[in-house]
Formats: sequence, structure tokens, C-alpha cells
Amino acid sequence: MTETSAAITKYWDGAAASFDDEPDHGLRADHVRAAWTSLLHGWVPSHSVDVLDVGCGTGSLSLPLAAAGHRMTGVDLSARMIDQARAKFAAAGLEGNFLVGDAAAPPTGDRQYDVVLSRHLVWTLPDPDVALREWAKRLRPGGTLILIEGRWREAGQSDVPYVAGAGALPWNGGVSAADLAAHVRPLVAELRVESLSDDPNLWGGPVTDERYALIAKAIG
Ligand SMILES: C[S@@+](CC[C@H](N)C(=O)[O-])C[C@H]1O[C@@H](n2cnc3c(N)ncnc32)[C@H](O)[C@@H]1O
Repeated sequence: MTETSAAITKYWDGAAASFDDEPDHGLRADHVRAAWTSLLHGWVPSHSVDVLDVGCGTGSLSLPLAAAGHRMTGVDLSARMIDQARAKFAAAGLEGNFLVGDAAAPPTGDRQYDVVLSRHLVWTLPDPDVALREWAKRLRPGGTLILIEGRWREAGQSDVPYVAGAGALPWNGGVSAADLAAHVRPLVAELRVESLSDDPNLWGGPVTDERYALIAKAIG
């Protein structure tokens, strides 16, 4: 593990206990949970499928998908985040497979998935292109890649760095939909972008920065 990756892991281990206090993380309010559940149902098949949630955090999006009957595998660099995800699933009486590991090389062997999902992760990857290529390979033919990302207004304007070395992360502070689409397009059969900036229910209040989902279909 590089020094930057170790610092990132430590940062998220430290954030894990209070991560779900944010409205769009814990999805504790009915209207926020309903907004995310409705979006996910629009992107994921209605029958039970295998879903890989990379950089799953506390399992915020894995949980509603498991509740809808999907078979969830979550991978996160932070063991404390994985602890939280496992505890949430146990409390909800749901099954999920949660693994500590690098999203750029998910420790799931040669398994493939119907859906690979990631929210708010690519900005903190040292080499996002390596991860994107890996995720495309983990999809079954015709599978769906769902990347929920943004370019956050405050990004890069704070004097407080995220972690030492964060300045070298290619997408530190977020990535625009146009830039992300340019990197994903060669890896997939087709893609579309949906803006998520206009629905305050998703975020627990209005937002003014660029937030979106990139939905791509695997080749084959
Ligand atoms: C902003 S949080 C998002 C968590 C979750 N996807 C969500 O939307 O609630 C970023 C997550 O990515 C994880 N992470 C950062 N770098 C990672 C990497 N290289 N591999 C796996 N997880 C990583 C962090 O530990 C953290 O849980």
C-alpha cells in the first residue's frame, strides 16, 4: 500500500462511526431513502441480480438494493466502514458479502456481476482509469455500470487538504460528467448521464454543484 492509500484508509476509518450522520449517507429520513430507492430501482433490473458496490462505505446504497432482493457484495479499503456495513445489514436482517479491499482490484476472484455500482469514490482513486477498466471487466455481458459522482463546489477551495498527497489524485475534488464519460466511453457499449443536482431529496437539501449518475451498458 502506498503512503497516500494508507492515509486514505486511515481517514475513512476515522470517519466511519459518524459517516451515516449525513442525510445522503445514512438515508435515515424517509424522503431521502425513498428518493435513492426510487433512483436505484430505475437503474437495476427488477429481478434479483448480483451487484458489486465498490467503495461501499457503510453500505448506504447496498442496503436498499439488498432489501429489494439483490445479492450484494461490497468492497471498501476501510475496515471500519466494512464493520459499519456488516452491522447495518445484521440489524436489518439482510445478507450481504462485505470485503476489505481496493476498489481498483476487488478481492472477488474472477466473479462477474450484473451491476457494478460506485458512489462518490473515483475522486479519491490514485489511478481511476485502472479502476474503471477493472469494473468493466467485472461486468457480465450486457451488465450495467452505475457511477454516481460529482464535481463539488468547495473542491480545491479549502486550505485543509483531504489527506497528505491528495493533490496528486487526478480527480481530487470530483470529476465532471463530461470528463468521466470520456474515460468510460471506450470501455462500454453505450452510456448516458442523468443529472442529480435538481432533486433536493437525494441530498437532504438543495445543492448547487454538479451531481450526476453515469449509467453504462457493458459490451456483449
Ligand atoms: C465518500 S465515501 C462513499 C461511500 C459510499 N459509496 C456511499 O456513497 O455512501 C468514499 C468511500 O470510498 C472508500 N475508498 C476510498 N478509496 C478506496 C479504494 N481505493 N478502494 C476501496 N474503497 C475506497 C472509503 O473508505 C469510503 O468508504
